[in-house]
Amino acid sequence: MEQKTCRIGCIGQGGRGRSMMELLLDVPGVIVPAVCDLVEERIDNAIKTVQKKNNNEYEVHGYSDYKVMLETEDLDAVFVATTWITHIPVAIDAMKAGLHVGMEVGGAASIQECFDLVKTSEETGKFCMLMENCCYDRKEMAVFNMVKQGLFGEVIHCEGGYRHDLRDEIVLGRENIHGRVWNFMHRDGELYPTHEIGPIAKILDINRGNRFVSLVSMSSKSKGLNEWIKNNKGTDYDLYGTDWACGDITTTLIKCANGETIRINHDCCLPRPYSREFTVQGTKGIFKEAPDDSNGTIYLEGISEQPHKWEDFNEKYRAKYEHPLWRDDDTVNFVGGHGGMDYLILAAFAESVQLDAEPPIDVYDTATWMAITALSEQSVALGGSAVAFPDFTNGKWIDRAPSRRGRFCLETICDEFFEGENE
Ligand SMILES: NC(=O)c1ccc[n+]([C@@H]2O[C@H](COP(=O)([O-])OP(=O)(O)OC[C@H]3O[C@@H](n4cnc5c(N)ncnc54)[C@H](O)[C@@H]3O)[C@@H](O)[C@H]2O)c1
Repeated sequence: MEQKTCRIGCIGQGGRGRSMMELLLDVPGVIVPAVCDLVEERIDNAIKTVQKKNNNEYEVHGYSDYKVMLETEDLDAVFVATTWITHIPVAIDAMKAGLHVGMEVGGAASIQECFDLVKTSEETGKFCMLMENCCYDRKEMAVFNMVKQGLFGEVIHCEGGYRHDLRDEIVLGRENIHGRVWNFMHRDGELYPTHEIGPIAKILDINRGNRFVSLVSMSSKSKGLNEWIKNNKGTDYDLYGTDWACGDITTTLIKCANGETIRINHDCCLPRPYSREFTVQGTKGIFKEAPDDSNGTIYLEGISEQPHKWEDFNEKYRAKYEHPLWRDDDTVNFVGGHGGMDYLILAAFAESVQLDAEPPIDVYDTATWMAITALSEQSVALGGSAVAFPDFTNGKWIDRAPSRRGRFCLETICDEFFEGENE
């Protein structure tokens, strides 16, 4: 297929915005003619990065005000990697300016902004794709493939977590101009649900035949950040003794319309190795991510060698059930960005922009996954009461048409797009 060029502006040039922009420039057909950040030095660095990558083949303009950028530049889309509570307002303005949006992950600040996001996308015809890279991780995709082939039977329960020791990143947010600190100071709940809920929602067909109906959240006390400050900055550091709102561990349970349950955990303030704890359990077996998140353990009744005994996922199953996207030689060899998944989500986004077509993660998914944060805060504030989950599709989830087929489709495996490859 002929490669169409697309022009993407990049708003937010912190660590994530900058590294994703570099990868985006590797996606065939992508041009980044404009970059934006509030910090002058970050704008300059971003311009230099683009110029270096494009060998000065086209001009790149820097902006400190994204609204001026939207008015001035001739773009097809923007990639937004600002802070959590600025993502949605920026995305709404971009769609109103006639651009598609790829938006970095984070939770929503309110349910209202999720509805506003959906309404703007519906009214403008522009998409807003949450850039949930974990949907394209190798392990999650292989398990997705197995679920769709029925190996786990009917899925009954899923689990996941964002278990990532971010104490230094959170506490030193002012020194490093990083947005997390204010959120942990003022908000108590599941602040970062989408890394785990994205792949789970796709497995459970959320917003296409299924939906989240209610949620319950509970937070522990908060001790980890002050302990870290005491040990690393000393008790004279001005944030020592802060009454951090966010509990060290938040546990959330979600009930789905088709009867499945989901447990997710937010866990960023205590010492621990990284894990997303991805777990899928059905009537025929279970997959459970290993502590090393590149592998997992699995048990499939009638297939596993011994009853009641876990098996190593990578050793016995992964190659056999690899998602075709990960069998692609180019993809497997592409090591940039969290082992390849960052490149895949950017390629999926760019393809949707180039085709001017529905993205694999649409505005309903985006609003639904992000809303967990605002709902979790409500539930925690109410002492763990159940809260109803809004239906951002307004009933469309019951009988929506299947999503667009393609290499990056997250609803099903579209074999016809991989024919002749990997043979
Ligand atoms: N998907 C992933 O694996 C992954 C990994 C890391 C971060 N993230 C997400 O990416 C986002 C950015 O992360 P980060 O670590 O770079 O954060 P950061 O806080 O370091 O950077 C955000 C940048 O956005 C800029 N900004 C804020 N408001 C702006 C506005 N109105 N206009 C222009 N620029 C603005 C800030 O000046 C800053 O440079 C966050 O939402 C984070 O959760 C995702």
